[in-house]
Amino acid sequence: MNPQPTIRPARPDDLPALAGIERRAAALFAPEDLPPALRGETVPAPTLRQAQADGLLWVAEDGGRLAGFALAEWLDGRLHLAEMDVDPDHGRRGIGAALLAHMVEQAARLGCDAVTLTTFDHLPWNAPFYRRHGFADIAPAPASPLAARLCAEAEAGLSRRVALRRDLV
Ligand SMILES: CC(C)(COP(=O)(O)OP(=O)(O)OC[C@H]1O[C@@H](n2cnc3c(N)ncnc32)[C@H](O)[C@@H]1OP(=O)(O)O)[C@@H](O)C(=O)NCCC(=O)NCCS
Repeated sequence: MNPQPTIRPARPDDLPALAGIERRAAALFAPEDLPPALRGETVPAPTLRQAQADGLLWVAEDGGRLAGFALAEWLDGRLHLAEMDVDPDHGRRGIGAALLAHMVEQAARLGCDAVTLTTFDHLPWNAPFYRRHGFADIAPAPASPLAARLCAEAEAGLSRRVALRRDLV
């Protein structure tokens, strides 16, 4: 039997592997959802370093290998899931759900009233996945940081993006 994946805070020596996981996870998206120009884009190394130092980056180890990560940031006074990727070789084993649960736990520990994210509405491993894990669709207030995020994503060429929130109190 395979051991259960482990979720833990990222260490500095984990960081170089994360871009590869993100690129491999991007293979799940069709070109009409993730335009080819955005396909190779990964979280910049300074962002990963800062998040690791701030305790906002977690990794999943599966069978002794790094299999995925979740990166949060502060947005409008609460934790926002900025990025989550699982290597497809380790996909559909509950690692995404475990990373998400861990991030939500950390947000609760930090006193957040809710966590937020933006994602694709129509892909089964995006909004429907998060809705199954307690997130609900929200319409961000005009001029809010979350609305600005959706705007920036639309300008970058992404469509059918939605904002979701899970209340913690
Ligand atoms: C979203 C993601 C992190 C989930 O990781 P995971 O470890 O596979 O997650 P889980 O095993 O907990 O659950 C995955 C669920 O997503 C859905 N899903 C995943 N891959 C799918 C596919 N190819 N086709 C249909 N549904 C799929 C299923 O509902 C699946 O649950 P099931 O296997 O019980 O049916 C991973 O799919 C990923 O990295 N995707 C690409 C990047 C991405 O979309 N990140 C999130 C951005 S908001």
